[in-house]
This record gives sequence, structure tokens and C-alpha cells, in this order.
Amino acid sequence: MPDRPQLDRRAFLGLGGATLAAAGLAACSPVPGATPNPTSPTGWVPPVEPMAFPAGYTWGAATSAFQVEGSTTVDGRGQSIWDVFCAQPGRVQRGATGDPGADVYRLWEGDLELMSGLGLDAYRFSVSWPRIQPEGSGAVNQKGVDWYRRFVDGLRERGIRPGITLFHWDLPQTLQDAGGWPARDTAARFADYAEIVFDALGGDGELAADWFTLNEPKTLAYVGHWYGGHAPGLSDPDLAVAAVHHQLLGHGLAVERFRAAGTPGRIGIALNLIPVYPVLGGEKSAERVDAAENRLFLDAVLLGSYPDDAIGAGPGSVPADPEKFLDLIHDGDLETISTPCDLLAVQYYGVTGVNSAGDQVRIHETTNATWQQVWPEGLYDLLRRLKDDYPRIPLVITENGMPDESAQLTVDDPYRVEFLRAHFQQAARAIADGVPLEAHYVWSLLDNFEWAEGYQQRWGIVAVDFDTQERTLKKSAEFFREVIAANAVPAA
Ligand code: FCB
Repeated sequence: MPDRPQLDRRAFLGLGGATLAAAGLAACSPVPGATPNPTSPTGWVPPVEPMAFPAGYTWGAATSAFQVEGSTTVDGRGQSIWDVFCAQPGRVQRGATGDPGADVYRLWEGDLELMSGLGLDAYRFSVSWPRIQPEGSGAVNQKGVDWYRRFVDGLRERGIRPGITLFHWDLPQTLQDAGGWPARDTAARFADYAEIVFDALGGDGELAADWFTLNEPKTLAYVGHWYGGHAPGLSDPDLAVAAVHHQLLGHGLAVERFRAAGTPGRIGIALNLIPVYPVLGGEKSAERVDAAENRLFLDAVLLGSYPDDAIGAGPGSVPADPEKFLDLIHDGDLETISTPCDLLAVQYYGVTGVNSAGDQVRIHETTNATWQQVWPEGLYDLLRRLKDDYPRIPLVITENGMPDESAQLTVDDPYRVEFLRAHFQQAARAIADGVPLEAHYVWSLLDNFEWAEGYQQRWGIVAVDFDTQERTLKKSAEFFREVIAANAVPAA
């Protein structure tokens, strides 16, 4: 496996450039020698009637702390690995930083009104660990705690259930200096931090909260520690898989603390999952990619085991040393990691093809985020697969979305309306076929800081002018408001 220094998600997929060209760049270009359409269209067509969702279905929108809050140096907040990463030349497009983000730390009250106006049932946000514990352990910063208390009170007063992510990639820099997620101790520090937040933000009854321990441990591990495109900017697959194990351990420890504290509400983990379809004789490699992208996380959390094909030299596996990985796993770790959860949060952005060399190749149209391959039916495939392979766990979709076609501020986003419509339809279809899906959060409520892309990708259903911080509903927000009001998705 070649070195992959300083690559973002986009550049990583781009590495398969030759392969992509060979495979044909879009679903409509037939791939020589491959199944013409590996995602095998089912012939399913959406009904002409609106598709209704069950009563009580939760409609939400999502953001994360570092991407929207801004105010990175106020009220005692410590530094996170993203502050440090942004300060390194060449890491983030145009040298952008988390300030101003969407300035939610200051503008939160107006944003709560915005959410009310859309009729959101729930709002998913993350808590910034360095605001709660500036040093990553020990002393609690009361100002940070108070801010989040006011914020969740404001949500609950408006009848909006908080969806609270404990960790969305902004690790306190002091913990990074001590080894970060590749170090086992970080899992224990995370559990301590989680307990502080359970205690501070726990609520009651219907509006208690849905809790998510980690956001996309895979992205933090692989993009941050292997491809080098996200903080902390490392390029070592052994560190990446160590970051996987210790994050998952942290997840399990946090779930144990949640139970021990008797915190009301439900808890789970937010995993970005990707349906994998073989092309050009890639069946075996596609299984390995499925293991590395999906089963490494699903099996650990829901079955208490790691698949044996996720890590190793085979095409499609993470090219880390399997022996070193096994050495990280102490007795009891997998029991801790698989402490029963109340829900599984699924983040769905699209699908991938895999060829025999294990390269991820493009089989469907992409967007301005070229790691994304849009295929709404993949959501249906994924949900059905989860129901079959990991039965009985309630499912919620905590991220699903696409960026605008350019970095220019726009409110006219017909592509996003159709994207959302098509994905909501596949969700409704899955529910009708018995999938226990209970919620759908769009990514994102607001245009925001899109990691290594800085402010060059706008993912919001609400446009943000980063100079004035003015918010304007996009067409997709108006569409979403109608879907929520009707609890149904209309036909095109
Ligand atoms: C997900 C991240 C989220 C955002 C979207 C576009 O992987 O969880 O923060 O960057 O992608």
C-alpha cells in the first residue's frame, strides 16, 4: 500500500484514478467485463402517492461542535486536534479554521427558533470535549457545561429532543500529545468525560435525549491516522486500527457509565456504513472492503467479535499488522465494546464499487464531495442488511445529505430536494418491509466548516453567509418542513 500522506477524503478516492477511469465513471457507462450494474436495480419505482411514515417517526437535522460553534477561544475552551490541524499550512482549504464556523456559540437562540420553524422533532449536535474538560481529563470547565445546559434546555422548551453526540472528532490536544486514540488510556479518559456530560445534560421523559457515543470512528481512524487528511494528520495503518479499537473500547465504557448513572434516554454509536458492490471480478476484495468499512465496527459493537478479514495484506483490507492489532485486545474488551445499546445510528452518504485489486471504484454519480457516490437504493439495501444480520436493534439515520454544487452561497438547491426525496422514499420502503427505522436526520442543518474542505463545501439545508452569519432557508429546507408537517414524503 503506498504512503498516503496529507490526503483528504476526496484525494483518497482519487488515488484510484486509473482504476476509476477503467471502470467507467458513472453508472450509465458500462464497465467492460463487469456485471453491467453491480447494484442490480430492483425495478422498484416510488408510488405516485405520498409515502407516509409511522406516527412518532423522528425528523431531525444534525451538526457538530467544531463545524458550527466558532468561538474557539472563549469561556475557557481548550485546544482540540482540529485547532492544531487547521493551523498547519496546507491542511485545510484556504487555511480555514473553526472560527467563525456558523457562529452557533453566539447565535444559538436564533438557531433554536429556526429549528422550531422547521418543525424539527430532534436536533443532533455534539459536545465539544475541550469546552467541558480543556485538558481532556480532570478539571471541569463550568462555563462550557453551562453553555450546553442552556442549549439543551432551549431545545426541550421548544419540544425538540436533543440528539447528543459525545465525540465528533475534536479530541483535546493534550490527549493527542499523550498518544491520542492509538493510546489505550484515551478510552478511559473518554468514559470519564462522558459521565460528566451524562450528569450535566440528562433530561427526563420523551425529551430526555438520544445519546451517541462516537461519530464515525472509522473516519477519525482511517482519514485521521492512515490517509492523513484529517486531524491528527497521521499516515500509519497500524495507528489507524489502534484508534479503531480504543475508540470502540471508549464507546463500550461510556455505555457502561450511562447505565451505571441511570441516565434517562437511549444510547448508541453513529457509524458511517457503506454498501459495497463488486465489479470486475472483485467479489473477494469486496468482502474485505465490507469488513474494513462496515463489519469491523458492526460486529464488534453488536456481536462482540472482530471479523478476521478486515485487517491484513489481502486486497481491500486495512494494510495493518493483524498480530499487532490482536495484541491490543485485552481480555474482556470485546464484552465491554458490545455492552448492549438501545439503538444503532447509521450515517449514509452512498455506495462504492470494489474491483479485484481492492480499490474502491466509482459506480454511481458523485457530487461536489467526490468521495460520495449517490445511490438511494443503497440505503434500502443497507437497512435490510442490518435488519437481517444484526436483528432487534432499533435503527436511526443520523446523517444523510449532499453538498451544494459549488462553494457559492445558494438557496436554490433542487438537487438536494431530489436527493432527500429519494432517500426518504427508500427509508419509507424499508420501514414498510419491516426494518425498525425510527428517525431520519439530515446533514446538515446549516452550512458549516466541512473539515479539510474548509468553507468550500456547503452541506446545509439552511444557507449561511459566513461574512454576516445571516441564515436563509434553502429550497430543501422548505421541502423538509413540508415532509415533517405531513410525516410523509411526496412523489416527485
Ligand atoms: C460525515 C461527518 C460530518 C460531515 C459529513 C459531510 O462524515 O460526520 O461531520 O463532515 O460527513
